[in-house]
Amino acid sequence: MHENTKAITDLILKVREKSRQETGNEPAPEMPKPIQWPIQCLVGPGLEGAIACESKVGYVNGAKGWLVYRGYDVFDLCAYSTFEEVSYLLLYGQLPGNSQLKAFKEKMVKYRSIPSTIRLLANFPVATMNTMSALSFGASLMKQELFSQKQDNYRFENGRTISADEDSIPMETRPRGEEHAIYEFNRLDKTKESAEGLYPGADYESSLRLIAGVASVAGAVARLKQGNLPIDSDPNLSHAANLIYMITGKYPTAVQERIMDIALILHADHGINASTFATLVVASTLSDIYFAVGSGIAALNGPLHGGANEQVLHMLKNIGGSDRVDSWYENARAKKEKIMGFGHRVYKAYDPRARILGPLAEYLIKENDDPEVKQLFDVALALEKKVIATLGVEKKIFPNVDFYSGIVYSSLGIPVELFTPIFAVSRVSGWVSRVMEYLEHNRIFRPRAMYSGSFNAEYLPIEKRT
Ligand SMILES: CC(C)(COP(=O)(O)OP(=O)(O)OC[C@H]1O[C@@H](n2cnc3c(N)ncnc32)[C@H](O)[C@@H]1OP(=O)(O)O)[C@@H](O)C(=O)NCCC(=O)NCCS
Repeated sequence: MHENTKAITDLILKVREKSRQETGNEPAPEMPKPIQWPIQCLVGPGLEGAIACESKVGYVNGAKGWLVYRGYDVFDLCAYSTFEEVSYLLLYGQLPGNSQLKAFKEKMVKYRSIPSTIRLLANFPVATMNTMSALSFGASLMKQELFSQKQDNYRFENGRTISADEDSIPMETRPRGEEHAIYEFNRLDKTKESAEGLYPGADYESSLRLIAGVASVAGAVARLKQGNLPIDSDPNLSHAANLIYMITGKYPTAVQERIMDIALILHADHGINASTFATLVVASTLSDIYFAVGSGIAALNGPLHGGANEQVLHMLKNIGGSDRVDSWYENARAKKEKIMGFGHRVYKAYDPRARILGPLAEYLIKENDDPEVKQLFDVALALEKKVIATLGVEKKIFPNVDFYSGIVYSSLGIPVELFTPIFAVSRVSGWVSRVMEYLEHNRIFRPRAMYSGSFNAEYLPIEKRT
């Protein structure tokens, strides 16, 4: 292990101990038992407290500050594992052995290479699009690439390709005098009818394609946003290193790679949060998994969810300096504004992800010595202190995952509009793992609303309406 990456492991083990000490007195959860449906639970607004399904993928304990993937403490996974291993764990339920990991990584490398999707994406005005809508669009285009590949395979196996250069045939113009080419057009029409049949519903292979490919889409979106041409993935790099490379065009150092790897692990899964629920709802209709992931991306975009990491950076910049934190905070409190990067529906203790990301941000700043990012970090530290002393005491509100992640990404040279897409790149692992699990015993989601409207409205013609 690289000397500096060992220092990062030590740092994680240190915060793991701190977390265990601080929440050691909180009661341990009961051993899980299989659910006997129907169940009774107290439900609050926003489905707070509602149990949507049974799952073995992951667990969050808000009082103890635990985040567990398939039984493993996220602190241990961050200290010792990689995003590839963790994705395998989430998807298949156990950590891989050597040969399994090798095969998994090979597939990731293969599925990271999606040149025709990226070429298609580059034809759209990505530079002026919201990065998350570009990401969602790119995920949909990936499905198209898969469809095209399946078609190509079919044609290849049957030896019925159009003889000339197909790309040179203009649209809506039939090649002249080539019987078999005309036949090919007819056959293609038929294939079109059954195109949906070739799309995957949800399967492990598509899950893997999404885990690997959405990262490449994010890389392409980043480059197109900056007015650069997208670059191909590098098969020799880990998923984390390749992500940095595809976004920035630069090969990361061992420390940068390790920190991105940890950030990806930390964001990979988090119970039935809004985007995971959105993904499950769509998958439960037996819509395909690309649509389901697209809806996860859409839900993650909001500032109350994954979009908070970008808002945090804007907020810290807006505050301007650590000496301005007090007055800014008093003003925000007086206006009852929400402080971005704080609070959580589940955590009533310090979010374990923020516990790791805070010290990682500090570590990177010491290494990089970028004055702008250092200033952001100083503001963040001062604000954290203020919030914990007030909202922390009053309402158990602490920093969440989004508070320090932006500073970490900034130190890695990643532009702010890419923060939420990177969250999505990682969360795809959790989304698809939970979809695959849910579909084993699928039941379409269909909650209800408590109707509080009227029943006796009299229909009036438009001229009589006020
Ligand atoms: C994450 C979040 C949406 C959870 O929402 P929730 O479980 O519905 O909690 P509520 O919004 O009902 O908040 C409960 C109380 O804490 C307060 N609160 C919660 N988060 C707060 C924050 N970030 N700043 C100030 N007050 C906050 C609310 O005002 C409310 O106070 P009240 O009881 O006096 O009305 C919420 O904490 C929030 O909006 N945080 C900021 C956005 C963010 O960082 N999101 C990323 C989440 S990982």
